[in-house]
Amino acid sequence: MKVCGAVVFFLAYFGCVTSACPALCQCYPRRAEVVCNEVPLTAFPSEGLPKNTSTLTIQFTNITSISEQDLNAVPQLKELHLFSNHLKNLSSHLLRGVPHLTTLDLTGNQLSHLPLDVFSHAPLQILVLKNNLIEKVDATWLPDNSNLTWLDFSGNRLTNVPVDFLHKMPHLENLDLSNNHLEKILAKSLDPLTKLDRLNLRYNKLDSLDPSLLSSTRNLTYLFLSKNRLSQIPQNIFQELTQLKHLSLDDNQLNSVPSGLLDHLNALEDEGLDLTANPWVCDGKMEYLFGWLQKNQNKAFLPETITCSGPQSLKSRSVMSLTETELKI
Ligand SMILES: *[C@@H]1O[C@H](CO)[C@@H](O)[C@H](O)[C@H]1NC(C)=O
Ligand SMILES: *[C@@H]1O[C@H](CO)[C@@H](O)[C@H](O)[C@H]1NC(C)=O
Ligand SMILES: *[C@@H]1O[C@H](CO)[C@@H](O)[C@H](O)[C@H]1NC(C)=O
Ligand SMILES: *[C@@H]1O[C@H](CO)[C@@H](O)[C@H](O)[C@H]1NC(C)=O
Ligand SMILES: *[C@@H]1O[C@H](CO)[C@@H](O)[C@H](O)[C@H]1NC(C)=O
Repeated sequence: MKVCGAVVFFLAYFGCVTSACPALCQCYPRRAEVVCNEVPLTAFPSEGLPKNTSTLTIQFTNITSISEQDLNAVPQLKELHLFSNHLKNLSSHLLRGVPHLTTLDLTGNQLSHLPLDVFSHAPLQILVLKNNLIEKVDATWLPDNSNLTWLDFSGNRLTNVPVDFLHKMPHLENLDLSNNHLEKILAKSLDPLTKLDRLNLRYNKLDSLDPSLLSSTRNLTYLFLSKNRLSQIPQNIFQELTQLKHLSLDDNQLNSVPSGLLDHLNALEDEGLDLTANPWVCDGKMEYLFGWLQKNQNKAFLPETITCSGPQSLKSRSVMSLTETELKI
């Protein structure tokens, strides 16, 4: 800062002390915030970091790793944003020196394997690992009874998520596993997650769902299942979801839905149910959905675009436009 060059000695002295800031970064002392944005950093900027930093953002730089020792420089840290760097590894016990950290955002890095206890020690509430290269998650990354309320794991390469990993986060309200390669969500995975409000499983490879998967998540408000390979939905799977406002089932392989499937979804908002882009077969098995749509047209998203892919005689017809005779019911 310019004040360092000032002629008044004490002003200069305090000016220098209070304006410590890492080279290439911007410091905002009143907010205790440091931002290193799109600069040629290749390592964590330990030198000159104000000790009282509570928010640190390092984004669009070339740093490749971050360790427990690095974070010892900022013991008051509450939020650490590391968007779009080149992080490849994190050290085990990474957060031991930041006991107040509640938010960690690692979006857009190249993380693939993470070590033991990497997210332990801090009372993390928000953890974002979006758009990395992670293939396997491990329960040993987290402390027991983690305080996480928000976990975003979208855009990785997960084929499954271990039950014991999910069971470590009983306070979770938002779980985003979209854009992965998930083939299954194991039975009982979500049982302790009674506070879950949003569950996003879009863009995966799920071909079936366990009938009791959602039996404990009674406060679920948003459920995204689009862009999977679901060809069947268990009859009672949504039975407990009386708070659900939005359900997307579009872009799956559904021919029909079982009778009663939607009967308990009393909180669905207008256009809250997306059933488009499925290969509906318009025969007697459509009786339930046909009847539901007649009564709840406003709840369906673009209801006229829910069309038959078979039988041949009804191909491309809107389900809404059919008659009972055509459906043979
Ligand atoms: C952080 O410390 C600097 C001096 O190092 C001080 O100027 C600043 O006001 C402090 N910020 C907060 C929010 O306490
Ligand atoms: C990161 O490194 C690459 C290759 O060395 C360079 O082209 C790029 O400008 C660097 N990024 C920043 C933000 O300095
Ligand atoms: C990350 O990996 C590199 C190369 O394998 C290693 O030198 C470095 O110490 C590792 N950093 C951490 C924080 O584990
Ligand atoms: C969760 O937060 C509480 C209160 O801040 C804290 O006492 C507890 O240690 C935290 N739990 C974990 C596992 O960090
Ligand atoms: C579900 O939501 C209600 C109303 O918002 C709330 O009172 C209740 O505590 C929630 N249940 C759980 C398990 O979080």
